[in-house]
Amino acid sequence: MMNLTDPFNRRLSYLRLSVTDLCNYRCTYCLPNGYQGKAKPNELTLPEIATLVAVFAQNGTRKIRLTGGEPTLRRDLPEIIAMCRAQPEIEHIALTTNAFRLGKLFPQYRAAGLDKLNVSIDSFNPETFYQITGKDECRHIVADVEQILADGFYNIKINSLLLKEHIQETLPDALDFIKTRPVTLRFIEVMQTGDNAAFFNEQHISATQIEKNLIQQGWQLKPRHEHDGPAREYYHTDFSGSIGFIAPYSKDFCNTCNRLRVTAQGKMHLCLFGGVAYDLRDFLRRDDRVGLTQFLHETMLLKPEHHYLHDKKVGLITNLSMTGG
Ligand code: GTP
Ligand code: 5AD
Ligand code: SF4
Repeated sequence: MMNLTDPFNRRLSYLRLSVTDLCNYRCTYCLPNGYQGKAKPNELTLPEIATLVAVFAQNGTRKIRLTGGEPTLRRDLPEIIAMCRAQPEIEHIALTTNAFRLGKLFPQYRAAGLDKLNVSIDSFNPETFYQITGKDECRHIVADVEQILADGFYNIKINSLLLKEHIQETLPDALDFIKTRPVTLRFIEVMQTGDNAAFFNEQHISATQIEKNLIQQGWQLKPRHEHDGPAREYYHTDFSGSIGFIAPYSKDFCNTCNRLRVTAQGKMHLCLFGGVAYDLRDFLRRDDRVGLTQFLHETMLLKPEHHYLHDKKVGLITNLSMTGG
């Protein structure tokens, strides 16, 4: 089998698979109007996911990130993780979660073979956290992350939204947190979606100036590895952890794109903001591995060179809970 590549010589080795688009949070930047989907979404079944993961693995996928919605709402998540782990080609199985009840669930995920964990913590201040997410879970989540570290699992990244209103508070708190904890904390620039236009206009700031200031304070850019996500990450000899930035509006952001996305209903997106969705469900239902392989290779020829966030004429996706971010 051949590795999936696109016409811009990018190797697509990183699959972001959404396992549900349900979410129990209502973050201001993501779901300001609440969850708009059906009560019982037609999610991919375990055998359909098995076919999907096997075909992607045989065609060059080396890292799978399980996303949502909120992926931990899926009861069979440990089975999904174990199934990914059963594919010898898959080197990394990662999870992106809002960490609700993570303390209780994480040991099962780890035992099933999860080796990377990204947790959203938009603020370390419980009031600010509540204001952003609508949940009073800050202390609980931070305690769970501390416990996971104490248990010897260190592949943790924390995602924080970069918000104009809160950055004077969140940046020093973030630096304080990573001073002694070996985790990577990434600030994500808000991306405009169909649901959050007003919020975006009020809160979006670019990461560039903050990065310049950190470089002046001795932070150094880390080299990028093949299956890495889109963040630029920095280290400093005085800090145990690292700090990173995901800046999709910055120049050349898409040059290193190695990602494909599949939604919880089996639709493939070639870009987070790519427009067309390619339905893989028929192949999965029929367990048609040969047909799916051929379809994937043909479709890769259509992967856009870059996203359309700068192009106001192209319709924006509704919100990131639909495509798994
Ligand atoms: P690592 O694999 O650990 O580096 O993680 P990641 O940054 O790829 O994954 P995570 O799920 O933690 O995503 C963090 C943020 O990056 C989310 O807001 C994603 O939507 C965003 N992101 C990831 N890939 C892309 C992309 O291809 N385009 C854009 N615009 N944003 C992306
Ligand atoms: N812009 C930027 N990041 C977003 N996320 C969700 N919606 C947006 C948006 N509009 C982030 C969450 C989570 C990650 C998976 O995606 O904060 O950390
Ligand atoms: Fe918040 Fe993620 Fe849920 Fe969106 S999908 S509301 S970002 S926790």
